[in-house]
Amino acid sequence: MRSELPKTIHLKDYRVPDYLIDETHLTFELFEDHSLVHAQLVLRRNPQAGPGLPPLVLDGQQLELLSLAMDDVPLGEADYLLTDSHLTLQPKRGEFVIDSSVRIHPERNTALEGLYKSSGMFCTQCEAEGFRRITFYLDRPDVMSKFTTTLSADKQAYPILLSNGNPIASGEEEDGRHWATWQDPFKKPAYLFALVAGDLWCIEDSFRTMSGRDVALRIYVEPENIGKLQHGMDSLKHSMRWDEEVYGREYDLDIFMIVAVNDFNMGAMENKGLNIFNSSCVLAHPDTATDAAHQRVEAVVAHEYFHNWSGNRVTCRDWFQLSLKEGFTVFRDAEFSADMNSRTVKRIEDVAFLRTQQFAEDAGPMAHPVRPDSYMEISNFYTLTIYEKGAEVLRMIHTLLGAEKFRQGSDLYFERHDGQAVTCDDFVKAMEDASGQDLTQFKRWYTQSGTPRLAVQDSYDAHAKTYTLTFRQSCPATPGQEHKQPFVIPVALGLLDTHGHELPLRLCGETEACGTSRVLAVTEAEQSFTFVDVPTHPLPSLLRGFSAPVKLSFPYGRDQLLFLMQHDSDGFNRWEAGQQLAVQVLQELVGQQQRSERLHLDRRLIEALRSVLADSALDPAMVAEMLSLPAEAYLAELSEVADIDAIHIAREFARREISRELFDLLWSRYQACREASRSTAYAADAAQIARRSLQNIALSYLMLAQSEEVLDACEEQFEHADNMTERLAALAVLVNSPFDAEKAGALAKFAEHFRNDALVMDQWFSVQAGCPLPGGLERVQELMRHPAFNLKNPNKVRALIGAFANQNHVNFHRADGAGYRFLADQVIALNALNPQIASRQLTPLTRWRKYDPTRQALMRGELERILASGELSSDVFEVVSKSLA
Ligand code: TRP
Ligand code: ZN
Repeated sequence: MRSELPKTIHLKDYRVPDYLIDETHLTFELFEDHSLVHAQLVLRRNPQAGPGLPPLVLDGQQLELLSLAMDDVPLGEADYLLTDSHLTLQPKRGEFVIDSSVRIHPERNTALEGLYKSSGMFCTQCEAEGFRRITFYLDRPDVMSKFTTTLSADKQAYPILLSNGNPIASGEEEDGRHWATWQDPFKKPAYLFALVAGDLWCIEDSFRTMSGRDVALRIYVEPENIGKLQHGMDSLKHSMRWDEEVYGREYDLDIFMIVAVNDFNMGAMENKGLNIFNSSCVLAHPDTATDAAHQRVEAVVAHEYFHNWSGNRVTCRDWFQLSLKEGFTVFRDAEFSADMNSRTVKRIEDVAFLRTQQFAEDAGPMAHPVRPDSYMEISNFYTLTIYEKGAEVLRMIHTLLGAEKFRQGSDLYFERHDGQAVTCDDFVKAMEDASGQDLTQFKRWYTQSGTPRLAVQDSYDAHAKTYTLTFRQSCPATPGQEHKQPFVIPVALGLLDTHGHELPLRLCGETEACGTSRVLAVTEAEQSFTFVDVPTHPLPSLLRGFSAPVKLSFPYGRDQLLFLMQHDSDGFNRWEAGQQLAVQVLQELVGQQQRSERLHLDRRLIEALRSVLADSALDPAMVAEMLSLPAEAYLAELSEVADIDAIHIAREFARREISRELFDLLWSRYQACREASRSTAYAADAAQIARRSLQNIALSYLMLAQSEEVLDACEEQFEHADNMTERLAALAVLVNSPFDAEKAGALAKFAEHFRNDALVMDQWFSVQAGCPLPGGLERVQELMRHPAFNLKNPNKVRALIGAFANQNHVNFHRADGAGYRFLADQVIALNALNPQIASRQLTPLTRWRKYDPTRQALMRGELERILASGELSSDVFEVVSKSLA
């Protein structure tokens, strides 16, 4: 908590550090009621910072200073200045050593930043600015140092003592304590520091690198979870191999460790050689984790492992460059997941997520560029824009340069900047130098916020046999950015003739056709491209694979969308055509509902889904994706003013119609899938995952018929499934059904069986929090009193409060504002416990401009109440004040 209003930090004020820290020697003495941290820092004046010896300003928060010395001379209170955020002292030489001792209280740390305790073990989270809660330091990523860390603790309670790098010494002390020393040979910024002390078990494996070195791999957990690590270990080995094969990147230490902890603010953290994971992102077993959870583990393990190069070996100069490591690493992990599973399905999932969540962020009060210009609290900038849109920016560079030049660019980047802290400009420069392409205009993707619109029109000249596509781009104003310059928008496209065959693509002026799918770079506000030799008026398939993060519009008729759905050679665009068709049909229903007309569903949507369901050649995962109607959140994002109730009623009506009309087809496909599940042992492989996703979405439609035979099938699946994917889906379907007795029975049985498994109980909370039936808020309030709920555990907060506010639109947006009041109460409580989590939970309230005037006023009222509630963390203050501005 702060004593004055938080200050805004600007990129334009960046200065190189006045001093550098060549070596950092840390000693931790861990006790139950406090811990001691001794730091010896070997410092020198930064030659790049100019002449003279300015004061040394060290960061430090919530540290009790016990002793301080410079070059072995103890300093007294007159020799330094200590505030609640800094320690300032005056060096006398260009090279000197600072020794400090501080007392800290990990046992009371509920913010989960710095050193804290989770389920009895000590662990750390230092990104972005947590290290300053451990010791006085230059806590900024452009200060890179060699760390040596000794930790001591009671041997019985904390038999395992870990830190970054290699273990170099250990020993016992007389009083039942023991110690270990770790040395990290690589220079690193403080945000990559980690330590762990606890009673942990591990599984061990090894990996032989491309140059023939053997690396020891270990994943540590609390003993009861030792049986849930194999999938994480397999994912790690696949990631290591993939990074060698696709990027030529080899692991660099002799040991790589992962530790699973139960209390963690985010997914995981890439600390050098010692990744710390939210247990939800590394533990997986078929009995307790769904297919989606297995895939998340695979993706997050890969993400953190890939950071070893994109983040650690080459790190960020300052936090404005966060997307340098995060955007690049998300792009890398997405490509890895695409290679491990179905590429098209992975892309569909990522695009659906980006369009619903990141587009909403880009349209809201916290909109910011991929490389922000300013922030108050950096923790608020670990956003969908930095991560997901940042990854799209990297994907566009990949698309524009081609795989080969992109790889040359990344090789050059790693080679040129190994061991350095650099900027997004440095990255782009390497891509330019390797490819010979000028990316000056492209860099606007880093500096301009907001989601561009791309309106496309076509015209066909039957006489000249030419076909012209005209693109008009614009980008709405965002906070601080009234007017935007045109972006470089890569548009991958193809042209389909009346039989659905792709036409060769020759642009006016070209001597020969260049394939049947190609990328046009739209660079102007308005720009036309004319194709020649086009025999008939074609139908364009635009933005294939979602080649740019824009809102594209083309005046497709519904029959044209149906045609694309059936014929497009691009799997992503087949799905996309189906989504656009569904959006049109659902928007029509929303209009009918708003005018109090009888709802009438366009039959073409039913027929389209009928042919998808009947197509036994189509990948079941694609069938499942195509059967999924656009989410309520996406329909809300597309609306000028989101009519929550009409959207919900319209979508539910469409689902019931689909269920009724396609019942027999759904039923036979369901039964075939379930039969296959019954007769095969579970595996988290692509084919089985695809089958289960079709089975589960079919079940959710079938249940809308409210028939006894479906209820029996659902209960059979719930009772007898040999895996959590089927069991949880059956539970969710029951929870959303009107069968109250069966629902209560299933929930009780599930909770009884899994009450000791925290991650499964998270699922149990989420399923109920997301249920749109009336009384949702009361159910959530009741669940907050359940013994398994705990406001101090971020996973529980996300599972119950987060799921309610983000996925249960009808209940959260109740007309009387009780949902908003509930969320504001939780944010106020969380602000005092864990500011990062408090600030994240606030997000739905920041979107108040999307709703009708009554809801707007209610939401604003709650934001104002939070603002007036007392001393706010910088995290919550920034989001609330920007939302009200
Ligand atoms: N660098 C981490 C990742 O993306 C992000 C992260 C983990 C983080 N824990 C955090 C960011 C806590 C802020 C605060 O992999
Ligand atoms: Zn990351």
